[in-house]
Amino acid sequence: MTWLHRTTQGVLAEVERAKDAGCFPFFRPFENVGPHVGIGRERYVNFTSNDYLGLSQHADVKHAAIRGVEAYGTGLGSSRLQATSVRHEELEQRLARWLQVEACAIFPSGYQALVGTLQAFLDDETLVALDNQSHASVLDGLYLAKGQHPDLEERYFRHNSVKGLRRVLATTERANRLVVVEGLYGADGDLAPLDDMVKLCREFDAPLLVDDAHGIGAIGPGGRGAAEQYGVHGDVDLLVGTFSKVFGGVGGFLAGDADLVSFVKLTARSFVFSASLPVGQVESALAALDIVEQDDSRRQRLEANGDYFRAGLQSLDFSTGNSTTHICPIMIGDEHLAMQFGARLFDEANVIMLPFIYPGVPLGEARLRCNVTAAHERADLDHALQALARIGSELGIIGAKQGSA
Ligand SMILES: Cc1ncc(COP(=O)(O)O)c(C=O)c1O
Repeated sequence: MTWLHRTTQGVLAEVERAKDAGCFPFFRPFENVGPHVGIGRERYVNFTSNDYLGLSQHADVKHAAIRGVEAYGTGLGSSRLQATSVRHEELEQRLARWLQVEACAIFPSGYQALVGTLQAFLDDETLVALDNQSHASVLDGLYLAKGQHPDLEERYFRHNSVKGLRRVLATTERANRLVVVEGLYGADGDLAPLDDMVKLCREFDAPLLVDDAHGIGAIGPGGRGAAEQYGVHGDVDLLVGTFSKVFGGVGGFLAGDADLVSFVKLTARSFVFSASLPVGQVESALAALDIVEQDDSRRQRLEANGDYFRAGLQSLDFSTGNSTTHICPIMIGDEHLAMQFGARLFDEANVIMLPFIYPGVPLGEARLRCNVTAAHERADLDHALQALARIGSELGIIGAKQGSA
């Protein structure tokens, strides 16, 4: 046994304990994908997917992926520097046009888009101001930059606090400042106050990076995300999105001014040193973009389902935190209770809602992650609400109140 094996012991012992208690919720092997999934012989209603519009199962999106594979094969054999297809360029131009920016760069994932963009711009002269609930992709970009530039100044402000952001910007001596926020927060389902943040960024001459992995395609009058919802999508300097949620596939992108995007394409390590997104994924993203641009019926259904479910949860006295969207966390607090709740929903009601615990969320803020999609039927939502009411009250998470919504 080497020290490598000894390193694994703490984590693996915890996993064994959770398995023994029947509440290890990860790596359940699905037989299919969608709002209803098969695991072994059972069928479950799934609330863990970020496929918010259900496009991963759309016939046009699937056929586009197949066409891409038939035309180009399964991979391009190199990074974008040596392996850019005409279809990559088409997707970058189409996204830029839709988002009303000059240019766009496609990455193999949204994670890589964030890590690479931050690493490319942050240096020893810079202050980066971050919301204290920043996603791991943002934090890892910061860690990578910090490894190369130890004098980089990083400052966190309280989640969504415009006052806190002002304090950070007003008290730094650095001339180069970058503000980084999410548009729609994936853990809380709330929106950054981008209208006020844009004003503040202007006042302090600080460019704004918005990671809107969860919002692009899902919210805003034209589906362009949180910034469009606030009427400020022309004021975001660097916009990062993903194909792994609304677009139903995999891959990510950076959108912004042409010079900024060109610079990132030449200097972001996660772009330069990682393989080009396969054309099957490029084609499926193009087909998903057609739907996102031309048909807002799925977005309307997403909003209606989110509103219905959140109202149902609140009428049962569950706390949904600050959520105003289809991402409806069920706030529990205690980690063990969240794990138990998730396990009982799975075992007794065939409902999948994953416990979201530290370090995914701050300690003491454990919750069930509950994503409503446009593909859920009202019957799915009612079934889940009834199960939540019964098990939630048996666990003492809500009062005696019970029943359907
Ligand atoms: C807020 C946020 N940003 C970025 C990402 C990374 O996206 P991708 O799945 O494309 O790597 C995620 C994915 O979970 C996310 O939730």
